Amino acid sequence: MSESPAKPAPFGAVSAPGKSFLIGEYAVLEGHTAVVTAVDVRAHAHSPRPQHDERPSPDSPFVAAAVELVSGWLRGHDYEVPAPEALPVITTVGFTAGNRKLGLGSSAAVTAATVGWYLASAGLDVSSPEIREIALSIARAAHSMAQEGRGSGADVATAVLGGTVRFSREGIEPITTPSWLAIGFFDAGAPARTGSLLESLEAGAAGSREAYDAAIAGIGAASQRFQAALDPALAMDDAFAAIQDACRRHNEGLRQLQDIASAHILTARIETIIGAAEWAGLAAKPSGAGGGDLVVVFARSGAALDRLAVELYHQHRVALVRKLETNAEGLRAEPRPPVNSRIKGLFKRSIDARREALALATGVPLARLADADAGALAPEAADHMIENVIGVMSMPMGIGTNFTLNGRDYLVPMCVEEASVVAAASNAAKMIRAGGGFAGFSDPPWMIAQVQLVRDDRSPSAEIVARIEGARDRLLELADEAHPRLVERGGGARDIEVRNLDVDNIVVHVLVDCRDAMGANLLNTVAETLAPELAQISGWRPVLRILSNLADRRASHVSVRVPAHMLASKQLDGGDVAQRIEEASRFAELDPYRATTHNKGIMNGVDAVVIATGNDWRAMEASAHAYAVRGGRYGPLATWRVERDADDAIAALRGKLSIPTAVGVVGGATRSHPTARMALEILGNPSGVELGLIMAAAGLASNLAALRALATEGIQRGHMTLHARAVAMAAGARGAEVEALARRLVDVGEIKPERAQALLGELREGGR
Ligand code: MEV
Repeated sequence: MSESPAKPAPFGAVSAPGKSFLIGEYAVLEGHTAVVTAVDVRAHAHSPRPQHDERPSPDSPFVAAAVELVSGWLRGHDYEVPAPEALPVITTVGFTAGNRKLGLGSSAAVTAATVGWYLASAGLDVSSPEIREIALSIARAAHSMAQEGRGSGADVATAVLGGTVRFSREGIEPITTPSWLAIGFFDAGAPARTGSLLESLEAGAAGSREAYDAAIAGIGAASQRFQAALDPALAMDDAFAAIQDACRRHNEGLRQLQDIASAHILTARIETIIGAAEWAGLAAKPSGAGGGDLVVVFARSGAALDRLAVELYHQHRVALVRKLETNAEGLRAEPRPPVNSRIKGLFKRSIDARREALALATGVPLARLADADAGALAPEAADHMIENVIGVMSMPMGIGTNFTLNGRDYLVPMCVEEASVVAAASNAAKMIRAGGGFAGFSDPPWMIAQVQLVRDDRSPSAEIVARIEGARDRLLELADEAHPRLVERGGGARDIEVRNLDVDNIVVHVLVDCRDAMGANLLNTVAETLAPELAQISGWRPVLRILSNLADRRASHVSVRVPAHMLASKQLDGGDVAQRIEEASRFAELDPYRATTHNKGIMNGVDAVVIATGNDWRAMEASAHAYAVRGGRYGPLATWRVERDADDAIAALRGKLSIPTAVGVVGGATRSHPTARMALEILGNPSGVELGLIMAAAGLASNLAALRALATEGIQRGHMTLHARAVAMAAGARGAEVEALARRLVDVGEIKPERAQALLGELREGGR
């Protein structure tokens, strides 16, 4: 091949997707075909960034095997091989739910990304079919070498090729799924135990060969039926009926296997998900070996999947893993490596140096960060936003570090005037990170439009309610006609609810999926559009037509598990601190006076992100506090409990937060304010639901930091140190002087500008 030496990498990273089985597990090991899809969580390989990434190490046997084989291939084809010490950094972004690894084929993705990085470093295009073929054969050999020949290889195939493939021992064939078919993955709770399930099955099968063969044949046939259902010539109803039948048969085969293996393949939680999906007219089966991990659900539309997600989360706390988009792209070069939110000592650097670190970590060009300058919003632009403008008020914007949410890192822009909010949230995010980070689940972005109807005639309200409910389909259709573009983007009207408030007042709720918009305008249009029709149906008179700011159908839920040792303070060990945080949580659960302050601390983090991203913080506040009182008494949005080990010692602290997040990433100030646009860029241009989760994570981190400080030394000391630092800088201290002067100010107990000037003089004198 080419003689040219390897050029410096013209790419930031090479990534490869994870995989999920759609059907055919177990049977594929006996020669049947399975269907496997690439999911858009990705392993990345990239060069270490100076002063940013840990030094890479070839600990993983998959990386070691990939490096050995791909280096051999490059050498054999006259390409320059990167030096052994030039190992890439390998990260797996999104392969976890909190601190639990999901069975998404991370080892195959890691192997493929490593091979891809070496090929790309030699100047080869890893997205081209020819190079992907080469990458596939190297990655398959490396993966098999690292796990001593075990595994079907389906995961390596999807990691390199992407898309969806039909897979058997005979080969791999790309296939497509119908565009109407919505596929979602629900978290069945326990870690994947593929190895141990296969072992139990092998042992069981030895004694009941016939039953085993029959079960495998049943699963094989189910897989065939599923594949036949993907024929584009089939009508949607027929195809979906075949998918339902295939899943039922597949599960039947799994039940037989679990009898043979005497192990739980279909756990109680998996059966709950399958039962709820079937009840809702959808189809479901475990994805992978079962025993926990993921359940794949097939639906005729994304809306049907969302309805099931709402039901399962609110009835059973089972979450839809929203990040798992199917049919993901295979091996590809990325413009930059994934964000690493661990930036050590950011607070010690100058503003310019912080901007440089942020640009390096996120890929947002340094020049763009000028949109965080005080004058970024010109008065002329502000003049178009509100009335009687006389100028612009600026607020500090800081960066929350250490955040990792659903396996992905974020550097979080936070706009707030209160000292210590950003530092405290970053510090708590670091403790949370040690336990795997935040696990988050979002409701679908459903909001409520309200139409109030008051009685003008004598018709009894019960009759009116029934009449409106009877017109549900027509009303939903009308609501969608008002927003064709929202429907194109996958949103639209989802349900009608009628509430009888008293004998003279009825309110009609229209539930609308707002996708990436906060939705106030579109909800108000829906309410106004439907009002005349409702007047006609009911004979009652419409009065108010407006959204409800109680966004209780659009909540973000985050949870964390912090290892106890991370909470230790100078005086107390981690277990004691965890215990005190639980006690502080109970206080808020029992007393609305405390709950209000507890929630204020949460909103310190939440609102800082709401404001930084140009969202409506009045809506956020109104919604959060109404949500906090939904049980009839005002309570805390976040709660904490200790977790004990087998010896009854405190091992960890668990926390969770649910908060309505009526926020968007399109429309309004999110787009018109340059600083808000930049903040969204720093966050990697998240979707609306992703942004809601980031806000919830900032809120839970702020709460943890506040409770830890309050339950130990109190918050004043920390506040004083931060305040002293600010006073020291204002007095002219630079570099190491800042810390030294701040410490002196705290020690003398007088944090005032004049004192700071004097002490700085002394410090400099002494330093000469
Ligand atoms: C101060 O802004 C917030 C706190 O009062 C919150 C709390 O008490 O939990 C520290």
